[in-house]
Amino acid sequence: MKTTLSVIKADVGSVAGHTKPHPRQLEMAEEKLKDAKKQRILKSFYVTHCGDDIELIMTHDRGVDDSEIHELAFKTFSEITEKVSKPMKLYGAGQDLLLDTFSGNIKGMGPGVAEMEFEERRSDPVAVFMADKTEPGAWNLPLFKMFADPFNTAGLIIDPALHEGFKYTILDVMKNRSVVLSCPEEMYDLLALIGEPSRYVIKQIHRKSDGLISAVASTTRLSLIAGRYVGKDDPVAIVRAQHGLPAMGEVLEAFAYPHLVAGWMRGSHYGPLMPVGLRHSMVSRFDGPPRVICLGFQVSNGELIGPEDLFDDVAFDESRRIANELAYHMRRQGPFMPHRLGPEEMEYTTLPGILKKLEGRFVQE
Ligand code: F6R
Ligand code: MG
Ligand code: MG
Repeated sequence: MKTTLSVIKADVGSVAGHTKPHPRQLEMAEEKLKDAKKQRILKSFYVTHCGDDIELIMTHDRGVDDSEIHELAFKTFSEITEKVSKPMKLYGAGQDLLLDTFSGNIKGMGPGVAEMEFEERRSDPVAVFMADKTEPGAWNLPLFKMFADPFNTAGLIIDPALHEGFKYTILDVMKNRSVVLSCPEEMYDLLALIGEPSRYVIKQIHRKSDGLISAVASTTRLSLIAGRYVGKDDPVAIVRAQHGLPAMGEVLEAFAYPHLVAGWMRGSHYGPLMPVGLRHSMVSRFDGPPRVICLGFQVSNGELIGPEDLFDDVAFDESRRIANELAYHMRRQGPFMPHRLGPEEMEYTTLPGILKKLEGRFVQE
């Protein structure tokens, strides 16, 4: 029997700016999912938050893109918005709910989704990554390292089960089309694409030897849906680990160096992605710097066993220190690129308005 793991998230309002949800919002999410479990829609669930995003981590046996599961998430976020966020006048109430009528699939409606269906192995450790104040392309670099870089993942060389490599499905978010590239043979082509994370994002990774699904990531781009800046699409990803896949330590190692990602203040700045424990996921300085948390679970007959708060470890203290140092460097540049995003990325902010306003004042030199 197969198990489906669905992670669906949305920012439907937070306290004192874009910081973190109110406890009542999380309680309501718990209540809704508890009900769904009673009705046997869900097998197991865990509700948490990363920064201002509410994260619903759910298991069931209905497969990916199941309308009942998506509707459950949609109704949960809508009800939280109506019954908690709006009455409390929380900041950005209902922010990620771009549409208000559900029509079968929550994708494209604002919330972020990462789902995978798999036959449980004898033991199935999974890592759920959740980030705030950044975009899906932020996973490109660490997912490359985990499944294709032997300097990160020793198993690619040492373990015969990984040695053949992995296949990456890359989505071109501008043209809404995807391509599958095989590593290590097509590594340079892969890097040529995913090195441009605002456009090409890793959607799925499969083990080459047997097609085993190994990782999935959310790929929504809110600004492309709405045509204007409506908040960043703070992404989520699911990665399976161990026994013929990268070890959990190899999976986490990919975040040891806090690489620069797009997001941070007003979704318009590059900054380091800081790996933190849950208790430190709330952003503060300049609405950031961007954070990533990782909860580890065992999936056991559809039950979620755990979680372990995997970045809540002194071994990541140095990564956090480097992230803070990078944050200082970047902040000193204020509105100057490359702290501020380039023109293509600013297209969905107020910048086109400024250019339009000044249009008549430009004179030919
Ligand atoms: C970034 C983010 C925040 C807001 C910023 C301005 O993803 O959510 O940095 O963009 O706080 O928010 P508004 O325009 O709501 O005042
Ligand atoms: Mg917000
Ligand atoms: Mg957020």
